[in-house]
Amino acid sequence: MNFPYADGTLGEVLGQRMDRVERELMVHLSVGDGILDPVTSHLAQAGGKRLRPALVLLTAELGTHPDAQAVFDSAVVVELTHLASLYHDDVMDEAPKRRGVDAAQKVYGNSRAILAGDILFARASVVISHLGPRAVELHARTFERLCKGQFHETAGVQPGVNMREFYLSVLSDKTASLIAASARYGVLSSGGSEEVADAVARFGERIGVAFQIADDVIDIVSDGATTGKTPGTDLRDGVATMPTILLQEQAQAGTLDDAGMRILNALRGDLSSDEALADVVGMLRAHPVMEQTQAIAEQWLARAEVELEAVPEGEVRDALLQFGRMSVQRVA
Ligand code: IPE
Ligand code: IPE
Ligand code: MG
Ligand code: MG
Repeated sequence: MNFPYADGTLGEVLGQRMDRVERELMVHLSVGDGILDPVTSHLAQAGGKRLRPALVLLTAELGTHPDAQAVFDSAVVVELTHLASLYHDDVMDEAPKRRGVDAAQKVYGNSRAILAGDILFARASVVISHLGPRAVELHARTFERLCKGQFHETAGVQPGVNMREFYLSVLSDKTASLIAASARYGVLSSGGSEEVADAVARFGERIGVAFQIADDVIDIVSDGATTGKTPGTDLRDGVATMPTILLQEQAQAGTLDDAGMRILNALRGDLSSDEALADVVGMLRAHPVMEQTQAIAEQWLARAEVELEAVPEGEVRDALLQFGRMSVQRVA
């Protein structure tokens, strides 16, 4: 597999290790059960960027044993956990497409999609148990945060709570938690120091926020053929994202232009038809809040980069910087 964050020998070595992660991942997706296997392997076979295992392998370079079995186990665990969350997320979001194919619940129905997610999480738990109680605890706490973020997103902002703060706390929990844990697992499973583990976890946490803000831009500006998802899914579901929060903030401050007011009105209306959704997506694409949102993602990227001062200068740090940039400046 190509390793997009590093060139030369490091890129080659990590690409080969990604191939091994992929082989080990497949073992847990199909176990010889003809009814279950097509469901549990559905999303992994469809594609995906494998960003979280890549981060594990990358931060493992900061330890003394970057090719220890524990590193590969950690990489498999974070992707399995991510996969489990995607099955559940697509049920919750009623998302039609994921990774360019029909979402699991479209093909197999909600019950089987939910159970497949649970099974993948259970298999992740078995693998992580090989790494000892501390790794298990990190995994459990991470998954709790992930679910808590999803839960709060569903519950919505409560009276008296600032919308932007609410949104940022939701995406730290639902997305940044697992990216931060991936960075920490890499260092801890390769025998790296606690200090470096803490630093890369803080880096991962901030990159995770930047990554999810970029994801919210992508939901609006990219086309479905590139992302493999259905554009405007968040808008149709009424999920608050940074562009719509900026519109609301500017409306409250009395600074929102007419185009922005029209978007807010359309968002309050019925977006169930494809025409209505395409219309509001089109208006948003042309509005300055998209660029403002991208700028906020870049600010989180800059905050993340500061944390890498604790990491020795060199090609691993450069690759981490590249990982951060690509998380924010991506199209899919
Ligand atoms: C999608 O994550 C879910 C979010 C947290 C935004 P990715 O964008 O990493 O999805 P894949 O793994 O490449 O499909
Ligand atoms: C996905 O969040 C986050 C998790 C799976 C925990 P979203 O619902 O915003 O992401 P996409 O756009 O469906 O990938
Ligand atoms: Mg979703
Ligand atoms: Mg969601």
